[in-house]
Amino acid sequence: MKKTLALILAACMSLSLVACGGGGDKSNTPPAGGSNAGTSQAGSQQPSSGGETKTVGIAMPTQSLERWNRDGAYLDEQFKAAGYNTIVTYSDNKNEQQVNDIQNMLSQGVDLLVIAAIDGNGLNTVMNDAGAAGIPVIAYDRLIMNDNSTYYVSFDNYTVGKLQGEYVRDALDLDNAAGPFNMEFTAGDPADNNAPFFFNGAMDVIKPYIDSGKVVVPSGQTAFDAVATDQWQTDVALDRAQNVLASFYADGTKLDAWLCSNDSTSMGVTQAVTQDYAGDNAVVITGQDGDVANLRNIKDGKQSMTVYKAVANEAVVTLDLAKAILEGKTADASLISASGWGFDCAYDTESYETTPGHKCPSFLLVPDVVTADNMEEKLVTPGYYKVGADGYLEATNG
Ligand code: GAL
Repeated sequence: MKKTLALILAACMSLSLVACGGGGDKSNTPPAGGSNAGTSQAGSQQPSSGGETKTVGIAMPTQSLERWNRDGAYLDEQFKAAGYNTIVTYSDNKNEQQVNDIQNMLSQGVDLLVIAAIDGNGLNTVMNDAGAAGIPVIAYDRLIMNDNSTYYVSFDNYTVGKLQGEYVRDALDLDNAAGPFNMEFTAGDPADNNAPFFFNGAMDVIKPYIDSGKVVVPSGQTAFDAVATDQWQTDVALDRAQNVLASFYADGTKLDAWLCSNDSTSMGVTQAVTQDYAGDNAVVITGQDGDVANLRNIKDGKQSMTVYKAVANEAVVTLDLAKAILEGKTADASLISASGWGFDCAYDTESYETTPGHKCPSFLLVPDVVTADNMEEKLVTPGYYKVGADGYLEATNG
């Protein structure tokens, strides 16, 4: 109960007034994530005002990556607390399964879909079905490359990569130190529209130093396709990192930094560096998501940073946007000014295209850098995590 209370307070501090203010529904509490498995169908006890209860389908990619458990739990809890029925699915990172799951939601008569796509190009059939049935779709976190994506809610993905690149730049003091420095890259899943945004954001910071010779990439692998990681899998990142270390560093070549697009890939790279890198210098390694195991590595000095995205806030934006859509209200920049959200969010109608020339209106939140030094201030103080008995951070509902 204490945990829940801390979270209510944290949520009210950092989340939308729409979610927390005035209404007096004390059950409106986002969970800290890591929730139940599989498909949950929730019957709401709170009919929405003035009519029948609406149902929202929430399709998440997988439970094998920590963050999606948090997203699924936050979304489910917040939609239920706002009086909606929910159907939540996780599709084991299998596109076909996600197609089936969404098809089932449509046949169960959902009024709106929130989808974090496994493959942004793999949902055309169900997206066209949703469009034909007039069901609005919020592409959640990852853009769906289909014009029936009504809105996109995410973080500024390019900035995520930029923050990683800037971290490496500053950690190695690339502007002042003599160098050259040796560095490698690991990017995300080519099926995920976000992955190139992350990579390009980082590469745009580092490339001038590669061009000037200050940074050297001994593997020569600097193209997204060469460094991508199928389904963001730790094992895939680990294998490639081991190969790169064996082929280009076994002769004693120093490794200064390894830019990884997220925490699951960072986990594989960190393992390879810990086991297979012969040098004794600290290697700068980046990440994204603030996964608990990576926060341990950061505290232990094995990973340098993670870009944290407050998915509780992403869920708040999604809920308020869904409400506006379902109530037939305007959903544009005015949603932000009217929201009273205690966090920054930009309305962007230019950056994301579902098909050439077709822009998807987007609500983009702001990511943040977390290191060993600011971990408690950024993650514990707002209530996202707590400090466990062993001194490491753990989920608040731990
Ligand atoms: C991205 C997401 C990241 C990370 C990654 C792996 O789409 O934006 O936060 O979780 O997928 O699942």
